[in-house]
Amino acid sequence: MNTILGIDVGASGVKGALVDLKHGRLNGERFRVPTPHPATPAALAGAFAEIVEFFDYKGVVGCGFPAIVKNGEAQSAANIDKHWIGTNIELVLGKTSGTQVLAINDADAAGIAEMRFGAGKGENGLVLLITIGTGLGTALFYKGMLVPNTELGHLIWKKNKPVEAYCSSGARERQKFSRKEWARRFNAYLHHLERLFSPDLFILGGGESKMFDSFKDRLDPRARVMPAQLLNNAGIIGAAAYAAEQAG
Ligand code: BGC
Repeated sequence: MNTILGIDVGASGVKGALVDLKHGRLNGERFRVPTPHPATPAALAGAFAEIVEFFDYKGVVGCGFPAIVKNGEAQSAANIDKHWIGTNIELVLGKTSGTQVLAINDADAAGIAEMRFGAGKGENGLVLLITIGTGLGTALFYKGMLVPNTELGHLIWKKNKPVEAYCSSGARERQKFSRKEWARRFNAYLHHLERLFSPDLFILGGGESKMFDSFKDRLDPRARVMPAQLLNNAGIIGAAAYAAEQAG
């Protein structure tokens, strides 16, 4: 199985592409459908099926989903409709699209892609990938092995609120603070994570990682900090890689 459809469910768009798993890159164009609001299971299943149909695809599909995902079931819903909690993502999306779906947390998917084909390739120590977008997603690897569903964007930071409410892109846009202030907050977060996990490498992904050069000098944990290399395609590529692995 060298080509698999990967679909990344985000807060604003559901994006899919055929993935060439031999080289870790997209095999052709991405197709994007706006995330329905509210993104209830039925509404999202429609958007998902539209993407499968666009590619006229029949095989196994990998899906990166912005929640805790355990045995195919969503167990949280920070930036997606609450009806997902307790819903089996694989069954709901599989039924409407007529495919076999294998679901994984979106940050874990991005992490798998970066470890295999991107900034984490060949890294054998402790690597923590952080996706910076509407929320903060995390993926933790030790000797290349994923510890799934780490959810370190939900560390309680201040006033009983999770850290993603202070230094995600979503928080910066909603609260309208400067990028300089964002970098200050994010650096404090990296230092905190370092105290807890002593990583060798932080990989920063998600939309904000495109701006890496403009804020990298403001980040000074001991560990190395690198931008994700697969940019916005990491979630799609990692979801496809996960599906291929699970389907055997
Ligand atoms: C969710 C995570 C997700 C991250 C990025 C967080 O709010 O809890 O599951 O990985 O956003 O989408």
